[in-house]
Amino acid sequence: MSLHLSLGATTTTRTLLVLLQLMLGAYLLISSSACAKPIQAPDIRKCQKAIATSPNATVDNTTMTLDCCLPWHDIPRRNFSWDDYPVTHAKVRRAAHKADEEYIAKLNRAYELMKALPDDDPRSFAVQANIHCAFCDGSYKQLDTNITLHVHFSWFFMPWHRLYLYFHERILASLLGDPSFALVYWNWDNQILSNDTDHIGNNMPRYFTVKDTPIFDAKRDRDHAPASELLRINVVSDAAITDTPEEIAEENLNILYQSLVTANTADMFMGGAYRQGTDLSNSSVTDAPLGGSLELNVHSGIHYWTGDPNRKLRSDMGVFTTAARDPIFYAHHANVDRLWDVWTTLPGGCRKDPTDEDYLEAEFLFYDENQNLVKVKAKEAMDLSKMGVSYEAATEGDELWRNFEPKAAAGNEGNQVEYAKGKMGIKEISTAVDNNAKAIALGSNFTALVKLPAKISTTAGDQSSLSANDEQLDEVLVIQGVDLSRDDYVNLKVFVNMPTADSNTPIYTAEYVGSATIVPSPEAGKRLFTNVKMELGDNLKRLGLQDEDMVVITIVVDAISGSPVSIRGMKIQYQSTMCSTSSST
Ligand code: C2O
Repeated sequence: MSLHLSLGATTTTRTLLVLLQLMLGAYLLISSSACAKPIQAPDIRKCQKAIATSPNATVDNTTMTLDCCLPWHDIPRRNFSWDDYPVTHAKVRRAAHKADEEYIAKLNRAYELMKALPDDDPRSFAVQANIHCAFCDGSYKQLDTNITLHVHFSWFFMPWHRLYLYFHERILASLLGDPSFALVYWNWDNQILSNDTDHIGNNMPRYFTVKDTPIFDAKRDRDHAPASELLRINVVSDAAITDTPEEIAEENLNILYQSLVTANTADMFMGGAYRQGTDLSNSSVTDAPLGGSLELNVHSGIHYWTGDPNRKLRSDMGVFTTAARDPIFYAHHANVDRLWDVWTTLPGGCRKDPTDEDYLEAEFLFYDENQNLVKVKAKEAMDLSKMGVSYEAATEGDELWRNFEPKAAAGNEGNQVEYAKGKMGIKEISTAVDNNAKAIALGSNFTALVKLPAKISTTAGDQSSLSANDEQLDEVLVIQGVDLSRDDYVNLKVFVNMPTADSNTPIYTAEYVGSATIVPSPEAGKRLFTNVKMELGDNLKRLGLQDEDMVVITIVVDAISGSPVSIRGMKIQYQSTMCSTSSST
């Protein structure tokens, strides 16, 4: 990769600083990837039990030890090849709320057959659920290391779950003897309100709530059976917060807008790099991987909303350990997968998979419908059509969040930087964070002034260089070294120039930058150490703040069981939104 920079005549010192920052970023990227390697399939014979403890639950309140180890004895192994999995029938995944009785019967029959298989059959529901548990709770180590292999909180979140659904759906289809059988997607992003609550996207599909059917799960929030409540993507721990359906819909739309529309690079949307040697609980400030906005801002809230609040860690759906024991998990993830697909078609930015070899060549393990253990690479997840899978369009619902226009909050006018400084005594946060930086406890609310570097003002430049004009650079907020317990639901909501924001502040305004919600994935007391990145440029534009030197950033913390959260620092940086032809960033 060549760092060819073309500087215009208007170059200023601050412009140079921005360029230096971009060069340094590119250098660090190259140097850190040069010695790393893609994740290899783990040694499936070496497995340990998953241990989950809950800090605060009223039912079932002991340490949960789960054996999620996967079967391998006498199981044939193969490397994935498309030749072995030709597309013979199109699989069209439809919106769950539009399913007819015939499909519902079929879906139930498929899970009935899967649940009837013996627990050591790799196609059984027990093993299917354990595949998810095994790769999120410490059952397996990265090959030849002592580091846990984990498929959330990084760029593997999307390809891993897509391949997981692919094989899961093939098994269901083969058990039914119907090669065209496809999963449904739970269309919770669809905010079209109607009195016909049996047929709206954003509640729990009615047929999943019928007791004693194969797709029912008793370990859910009982208040969230259909029609009683709209799904709230925003995680609120205070059950007393009641909003009108319109307010819930507006909040959902802004979350979706901030997560899918303004997050316009793979880094922000899909998540950061995870390679051989990446340790989620022991990374440094500068290399901590991050989860993308679809995972942390959108997907996690549905897990929280669905799980049983009276059970340890809100199982089943509320904790990665048990989430896939609820058949609705697969409908939830089909929608996550659909939204990934929709995201690639939205205008602007670079909406493609990373081109880094450590992404493309990473290996995962799944079982197919013929009970083979299949080693498959992340790159095979890039093209749904190769899988014969497509999603029935949900255009009307999608358009609501695509075209959402968050407005500045009423009553939040005036100079918020001056107000925060003068009235609240808020200080500027150091943006030069390194691995020795001291932890900053967030409490339930943390506000700081953050410097806004000047935007580069040069124009021109070809795609292979780092030169860029205004259109190609976007302000991104990085919350560095977020350190939190993996035993607890933690929700961080971020606001710009709203220093008085708290957990009751509505999130449908332009001041709302995004959220990061961590679904618990306990692993014997291990912590999660991560950087959280959020697109900020769109907020600044809508609030007219692009030319400021400084903004106020407020992080509202909701840790359901109250475990403390700290960060090391915050900074605003520029990120190129162009697709680089020479290297992925
Ligand atoms: Cu692997 Cu929704 O989680």
